Amino acid sequence: MKLPVYLYGHPVLRKLSEPVGKDYPDLSQLIDDMYACMYESDGIGLAAPQIGRNIKLIVIDASPLGEDFPECAGRRMTLVNPELEVLDGPKEVRAEGCLSLPGLSENVPRTEHIRLRWLDGDFQPHEEEISGFLARLVQHEYDHLIGKLYIDHISPIRKQLIKGKLNNIISGRTRCDYPVKYAPKKK
Ligand code: NI
Repeated sequence: MKLPVYLYGHPVLRKLSEPVGKDYPDLSQLIDDMYACMYESDGIGLAAPQIGRNIKLIVIDASPLGEDFPECAGRRMTLVNPELEVLDGPKEVRAEGCLSLPGLSENVPRTEHIRLRWLDGDFQPHEEEISGFLARLVQHEYDHLIGKLYIDHISPIRKQLIKGKLNNIISGRTRCDYPVKYAPKKK
């Protein structure tokens, strides 16, 4: 099934997600569909709230970034119920985008090192310290599971400057070359 990407302004992006159980209906099909959705929209990560489900599930394929960021090479990860710990260290500022915020890209400060615990698609446990751009990507996707978006990390002035673009997304006036679902119209 082709999944649309839910866009900024949709309430599903602002809710806390629930853990996924082994008995979640058609989970492996859902994971396959999420990868397909991510690849079709040229994304490198996709969290379940972005396809309208408030569950703790993320797919990542950072391999297209492998040339610029070696830590991303060959990294294809299905994260079920991830737990993220931000480790001490400096913050680095880099540009981020999001499939739920088409046409936008903003500089976001994030810590460079994290510890991540997660289950893969077969519910096997993993734990790893992750650094660099991959750590940024994981933090971005993890934010989706707690109702946050990368624009929550930018300055109020910057947010004011992009307000028009944000309003265009909310009101459905933005163009997108992948299937999307806009926020429900306010009455
Ligand atoms: Ni995103």
